[in-house]
Amino acid sequence: MSNNHESPRPVAEPSGSSHPIKLSKKPQRVSVPEAPERTAKTACIRTFGCQMNVHDSDRMRRMILDAGYAEVQRYEEADLVILNTCYVRENAVDRVRGHLGELTRLRREGRLEKVALTGCIGASEESADLQRRYNIDLILGTHNTYELAEFVGLPTMRETYTPDLPGTEGEHGAFVTIMTGCNYQCSYCIVPSVRGRMVCRPMENVLEEVEGLVESGTSYVTLLGQTVDAWRHDGRRFCDLLERVADRAPRVWFTTSHPSNMEDRTLRAIGEKETIVKRLHLPVQSGSDRMLRIMHRGYKAERYRRKIGVFREFVPDGTLSTDIIVGHPGETEEDHEGTLKLVEDCGFDSAYIFKFSPRKGTEAAELGGVVPEDVVQRRFLQVLRAVEQNAFSRNQRKVGGVEEIYVRHGRSDSGKAIGETWSGHAVHVDTDASPGDYVRARIASAGPHVLYAGEPSA
Ligand code: 5AD
Ligand code: SF4
Repeated sequence: MSNNHESPRPVAEPSGSSHPIKLSKKPQRVSVPEAPERTAKTACIRTFGCQMNVHDSDRMRRMILDAGYAEVQRYEEADLVILNTCYVRENAVDRVRGHLGELTRLRREGRLEKVALTGCIGASEESADLQRRYNIDLILGTHNTYELAEFVGLPTMRETYTPDLPGTEGEHGAFVTIMTGCNYQCSYCIVPSVRGRMVCRPMENVLEEVEGLVESGTSYVTLLGQTVDAWRHDGRRFCDLLERVADRAPRVWFTTSHPSNMEDRTLRAIGEKETIVKRLHLPVQSGSDRMLRIMHRGYKAERYRRKIGVFREFVPDGTLSTDIIVGHPGETEEDHEGTLKLVEDCGFDSAYIFKFSPRKGTEAAELGGVVPEDVVQRRFLQVLRAVEQNAFSRNQRKVGGVEEIYVRHGRSDSGKAIGETWSGHAVHVDTDASPGDYVRARIASAGPHVLYAGEPSA
């Protein structure tokens, strides 16, 4: 995959975008209302996993608001709870089980009426067991989310809530799904079974959505897909679409890419088009050719290195992130050394490192050569340290410079707003500016994960 599943975080729970004013036409600052009185119906949506799920939750949010529910943030205040879930690793499922346990208790106490489970767990075989065990009222997979409409009392709205319609309107930042599913068969990955094969939206349709969003006040469009750069339609390829979107939206990013689909022309567009954020998320998974073959990734480490060389050439000030799996069955010490070497050569600005998690129904779950847990842990820490050391020294180079920062989240209780530079660095900044605003500020210090800026200059 590339996963678009969990990267690039932070995603999630509760969804950063689950604010009740979500659907207002123009971005506006409104204080968060008190918890609604329990006279109106209330619903709480929890999102686990990738941006795809965050986007699906946006769509479901439209349905519950249209059906007259008020959105609340706490289970205790909700009549209906929707868990929109991730199945990519076992710990994601464990977390959901924990939440289901809590919801069962609330239900027993008569404080909650209904529970719905949606997303990738909903599409998996395991959902039937969970439904029995926790008495879940509604299970939906990834292809029939629109059925939630009927469940919450709206007419069946297959047409109204299809993926072709925007889930977010009037927000400063919006996701636009350009493709769903995946045609790869990576040994370890459950995504093809829960999300299905690749389906690409027509270009005109995507552009129309982007134009509508920009008109309604959106200033940051993120193109989404499990293998977003595999998009193709009517003879047109991803770089064609990206360039057109970049001509229409003030700020653009995309995730997640697959190295086999990443064209040099796309990398050049990232460098040349001013509206594209100069950040590339390109999951490599391993630095060993032997492991890449076992994983069915379809490329060798050298080809990946070459792509990164092209990216660095076209986008010298860009940031690069990746996904790496440690402890896939059969991974030897030599394979692991290959990964450490690749990390050193590519100089990632960040990486999402995962311990292999066997998923029932995938090829890797049946393979011998299981790596002992203590070895996996050691390899995990070694890769993490290598990534962080490099990221820290790269970030240090930004200190002292003045950056134009796009504010993504306004000032939090802890005092700082969170923004993003054009090079794709996350920055904590001392400003009262609203999401969607730009500020200029000097970078005062840097850690391995974020930059810290002082007060913006006028
Ligand atoms: N075990 C560990 N990590 C996995 N990923 C996908 N499936 C598994 C698995 N079974 C990781 C990959 C992918 C990211 C979203 O999750 O690195 O890119
Ligand atoms: Fe990504 Fe491979 Fe999974 Fe497809 S099968 S979503 S390419 S990791």
